[in-house]
Amino acid sequence: MRAKRLWSVVGGVVLGMVVAGCGGPNTDSEAQNTAATAVAGPSWNDTLAATTGTLAAAAAATGRLVGAAVDYGALINEPAYAQLLSQELSYVTPENATKWGSLQPTLATSWSFPQADAIVGAAMAHTQQVKGHTFVWHQQLPPFVTDGISTDDLTSMLAHNIQTVMTRYRGQIRAWDVVNEAVADDGSGLRDTIFLRKLGPGYIERAFRMVNAFDQNARLYYNDYGIETINAKSNAVLALVSDLASRNVPIHGVGFQFHVDATSAPSFDAIVQNFRRFTALGLAVNISELDVRVANVAGSRVKKLALQKQIYQRIVAACVVTPGCESLTTWGFTDRHSWIDGTFGADDPLPFDDNYARKPAYYGMVDGFAGVPLDDATLAPNLIANATLEAGLDGWSTWGGATIAVAADHAHTGKKSAWVSGRTAGWQGPVVDVTSLVARGRTYDASAWAQLGGAASDQVGLTAKVSCSDTGDQFISVARAAADDGGFTQLAGTLAVPTCAMTQAVLYVESAGSEDLYADDIALRDPNPDLGPNLVADPSFESGVSGWFAQGAVTISATTAAAHSGAQSARVTGRTATWNAMAYDLNGRAQAGTSYETGGWVRVGGVAGADVYLTAKITCQGGSTEFRRLAAASATSTGWAQLDGTLAVPACASFTDLYVYFESSSATADIYVDDVSIRQQLAGFGPNLIANGAFETSTSGWFGFGPPALALTTGQAHGGASSLIATGRTDTWNGPATSLTSLVAPGRSYAVSAWVRTSSPTATGVRLSAKMTCAGTTSFANIGNASAGNAAWAPIAVTYTVPACPSGFTEVTFYEEGPAAGIDLYLDDVSWRETL
Ligand code: XIL
Repeated sequence: MRAKRLWSVVGGVVLGMVVAGCGGPNTDSEAQNTAATAVAGPSWNDTLAATTGTLAAAAAATGRLVGAAVDYGALINEPAYAQLLSQELSYVTPENATKWGSLQPTLATSWSFPQADAIVGAAMAHTQQVKGHTFVWHQQLPPFVTDGISTDDLTSMLAHNIQTVMTRYRGQIRAWDVVNEAVADDGSGLRDTIFLRKLGPGYIERAFRMVNAFDQNARLYYNDYGIETINAKSNAVLALVSDLASRNVPIHGVGFQFHVDATSAPSFDAIVQNFRRFTALGLAVNISELDVRVANVAGSRVKKLALQKQIYQRIVAACVVTPGCESLTTWGFTDRHSWIDGTFGADDPLPFDDNYARKPAYYGMVDGFAGVPLDDATLAPNLIANATLEAGLDGWSTWGGATIAVAADHAHTGKKSAWVSGRTAGWQGPVVDVTSLVARGRTYDASAWAQLGGAASDQVGLTAKVSCSDTGDQFISVARAAADDGGFTQLAGTLAVPTCAMTQAVLYVESAGSEDLYADDIALRDPNPDLGPNLVADPSFESGVSGWFAQGAVTISATTAAAHSGAQSARVTGRTATWNAMAYDLNGRAQAGTSYETGGWVRVGGVAGADVYLTAKITCQGGSTEFRRLAAASATSTGWAQLDGTLAVPACASFTDLYVYFESSSATADIYVDDVSIRQQLAGFGPNLIANGAFETSTSGWFGFGPPALALTTGQAHGGASSLIATGRTDTWNGPATSLTSLVAPGRSYAVSAWVRTSSPTATGVRLSAKMTCAGTTSFANIGNASAGNAAWAPIAVTYTVPACPSGFTEVTFYEEGPAAGIDLYLDDVSWRETL
């Protein structure tokens, strides 16, 4: 009976006994009153003062807390972690340390507080607020909480946990996630957990009442995932908390986890509309576990991080425009320590990188708090991280003796802009470094807003300075306009980045005269497509299934029985094995050593539901067969499921098999397929820097490294009709060569690929190499290797990073070498493409 009596704390039956000595409320009516007032508004005085130029300061300016989940090990072992946490954030949530299983890791009679104490203590020492997480959750439970225990025992153990923890931290912990993830994912009701099974649906209400009984100042939340927008699950959570609030259960708000994938991130409007439903009930909302995964975003890291920044800003902005959104917590703060890597696969979901540097996402958060308008959804994301100056001067500088500062309360958007004074020449303006953001040979949209200080009118310009070790400095005018001192003027144009040996690229604002200059909202966007054309000719099967073949004795046909788009889909019938499928041949269509975004929409027939898979069969000629599962999903007979994955085609010389197919865990289900897409990933690559790498018309640009003679030959060709042959080799290092001195830049990375072949009857080692001279010192680098004889072409496809050379290389010679003297070397389809 002990348990029952504990549960009735708020009923007042045994209150005196349970809370005696721990200073809790001692009447039932008091608890009830607290509930009523708490629903109406907070009683906690948040400390919002913070060092300027931090996330905490940006959030405090909106009356909000910004925090992170804290990992005990990192806090204790990494001074940089502890320092950044205390500087940047005003709110702390123990990531694991206050979970029940962490506090009672072994016996019901023993407790382990050192980790929780350390995290709470560190927060107190830095006047940060703390949110406890979490009392009632079906995961990370103590080992003694199993279905084997009785209802009474679970009841008393939970009550004991709440009492012990609340008593220990009363006055130190501002808020609690009282109940976590209690609603079923499909919104059909409460999740099937040990708490529901043992205690019945009333456990939620009782938990809130119990926690409240120990600290009426603590803000109490229901917390869940997958409820960011209006959907079946958020409807169910809304119904749950609405019921609790209407009955004066002491719940003050709802935590929305926001573990987001950038490829399916919710829109600003969808978040705000959802939040409004909850605040309309008189409840607060908070963003409780924000992280944004980008591994699935196609393209370069620069692009991924720019998109991530956009999404962070959008989510922060959704909180800022919602009066009842009181705080925002990221789940961790550095990519060095994130639960995402272990749960979803390697990723970089947080606002600080592995080395604690601010990522673009950080600036997105600051912009969100500062009220900077969201990017137009039709534009490619801005690659410049600190584009608005809202976080200070990071990334900005000026030229000569001029002075750059952040102008507070003077801005095109937000509150701040860059202000350059003390100018003595027109070119002395605000400068942003974009060296790591641009690929040479690519064209970008660039823009900025400028205003004069102390002059009524003048010409202003947005200019790029590209420094090249071979061709010197190039100044590229992006835009010119007439500006004044009454408001900001937009400068917008395009920037074609040259293919010189680039050591630095910057964008800057200048003017004709030397009056003060303000700049804000500088943007550099990459409008180039991320994906190549679809390799599937009729992806929605509107005119049949040509190009597809049957794997196994099945029938493939186009059908109007179901369609994801248009009028028809493809259907596979007569299946008797899970691998029976419709397949699409990529041999001769896809390129070796290249990645493709591969997907389609699938449903099943003849069964209610089954798992479906997109699989690739890859057999390099002479090699073993590999079956690669590119994507998996649960499909039903009533709705379409999307399969989406990446096919990284290996760099083998030729394929016996290279195809993809749609199969199912059910051996007999019919499979419907529609809207198939197989598109090469292009983003992040510059154009081929080798002007003549296909050797179709001449050997122009190439010479013999050593004595060899070069010629075109139609005897062998990898692509087209001819290739290059080097004959008369007298040493292993002899071969065909070309100069890259004015093409590649120190410190940058290149996707290097080429096809090689020899006249040797047995396969022999072929190398791609570079001779580089920097500041008078010559070195040789191995770039890639293959084994090739006279029977077949061998591919070499590698990513190669050119070494640093601050003064610029005076020679970069790229050449093919390796086989013994007398063996001829062939070369074809050479490319060097810059990557980011
Ligand atoms: C995660 C932690 O981040 C991990 O370290 C731990 O191994 C598992 O739990 N929803 C929640 C959090 O409410 O408590 C979870 O935290 C992440 C999902």
